[in-house]
Amino acid sequence: MRTTLTDAAPSAARLTSSLRDIGYDFVSAVADLIDNSIAANATEVSVEIEFAGQDSAVYIADNGCGLTPRGMTEALRFGSRREYGLGDLGRYGLGLKTASLSQGRCLTLVSRPIERKRPLWHTLDLDLIAELDEWVIAENPRNSVIAKCEEILGDGNGTVVWEALDRVLPASGANGGWAKRRFEVLTSKTKNHLAMVFHRFLIGENGAPRISISVNGEKVAPWDPFVRDEPATQQLPPQQFELESATGVGMVELRRYILPGKRTFSSLDAFENAAGPLNWNRQQGLYVYRENRLVQWGSWGGTRGIDEHTKLARASLDFKSDLDEIFNINVAKMRVSVPAQLKQMLDRPVSELCILADRTYRRQNGDYPNDDADVNDRNNGEAPASGALAEVGLALKSAAIQSGQYDGFKRVMEVMRAQHAELARGLGF
Ligand SMILES: Nc1ncnc2c1ncn2[C@@H]1O[C@H](COP(=O)(O)OP(=O)(O)OP(=O)(O)O)[C@@H](O)[C@H]1O
Ligand SMILES: [Mg+2]
Repeated sequence: MRTTLTDAAPSAARLTSSLRDIGYDFVSAVADLIDNSIAANATEVSVEIEFAGQDSAVYIADNGCGLTPRGMTEALRFGSRREYGLGDLGRYGLGLKTASLSQGRCLTLVSRPIERKRPLWHTLDLDLIAELDEWVIAENPRNSVIAKCEEILGDGNGTVVWEALDRVLPASGANGGWAKRRFEVLTSKTKNHLAMVFHRFLIGENGAPRISISVNGEKVAPWDPFVRDEPATQQLPPQQFELESATGVGMVELRRYILPGKRTFSSLDAFENAAGPLNWNRQQGLYVYRENRLVQWGSWGGTRGIDEHTKLARASLDFKSDLDEIFNINVAKMRVSVPAQLKQMLDRPVSELCILADRTYRRQNGDYPNDDADVNDRNNGEAPASGALAEVGLALKSAAIQSGQYDGFKRVMEVMRAQHAELARGLGF
């Protein structure tokens, strides 16, 4: 018997509308477009978030390789056809469309192909797609938005514009003060977000190509989650893990840092800046980087919970696109799941980091008063446990973790506390 095939092409109107809700917020949508600029070898990206009531628009321009006329059509196709290599920030052929349309109903791509002086533009318009129920791209007449793009483009090659920002502006009162204020807040949030997720690119470290980003004319300065320029930041030895995937073996690298407490930061400003967008407690944890681009932070990736006492602990976890599948990277590039085999490998090094960070934190809060010279003075030199003794306690704890005997060691600490209370205190048990 022969198989009969029936056409079941998706409804363009329904699918484009559903794809608006696959998990972007404004800042992650902007970041996804900057991934494209980086992939196009741009060294400069300028983001303009322009409030003009109903006519508000967002422009993201770069000086990357630009697009050929055919490339533009392909770029606007849901599921762009192209090959990806190791090191590519793109993966799904969707980001440009899904990120842009998650914020507005109209996306225009303006590009100056190398062989042409004047730019070309194509528009993906949800209202037109809904009306025709077809996958269409429009070539609209030149208007003031295109003129503005040409101005922003300068010597650059590509600009993306979002218009009809129905997900950003309120349904009514788009011209009001509230809407204007919202744009101001979004502008500042965008700066902070880009400073964090692209911090390695803004410096050009660890093999990431150097890029400069500006938001509404202001240059974005990198925000380093590990405050490596603070003299009191401590780094533990890096560790590497091999992970098996369907295509072979990939490497993951863990780098662990204990940030200084408030009193040992070089200045109050530096301490407050290190708190980050989510603030100290929620900025602890694993910072997961895919190809140098930060994709997840704000938790321990399922290896342990957030805890006030471990808020000075932060660690970077790096993987490359060959491990995309086992990390389950989502389309918005803002969520991964740490694979179960890796969680197990991370258990011990993360516990070790957290114990050391906990200790730094308690020291700062005076929970270990005997470590402090001023308190020792107040004790009139009466046999308090010395800092060296506390270091011995710490080394014992680390050794217990490294040998896999930490549970047994916890029982030893309990006995010590019961039978030799003072010594146990000095050791930091
Ligand atoms: N700023 C740009 N400069 C040059 N080409 C671009 C630019 N933005 C997009 N493109 C082209 O358009 C294609 C589609 O982009 P899109 O973001 O939709 O998918 P992707 O980057 O390939 O994958 P992903 O869905 O993971 O982001 C890209 O593969 C690239 O060829
Ligand atoms: Mg992309």
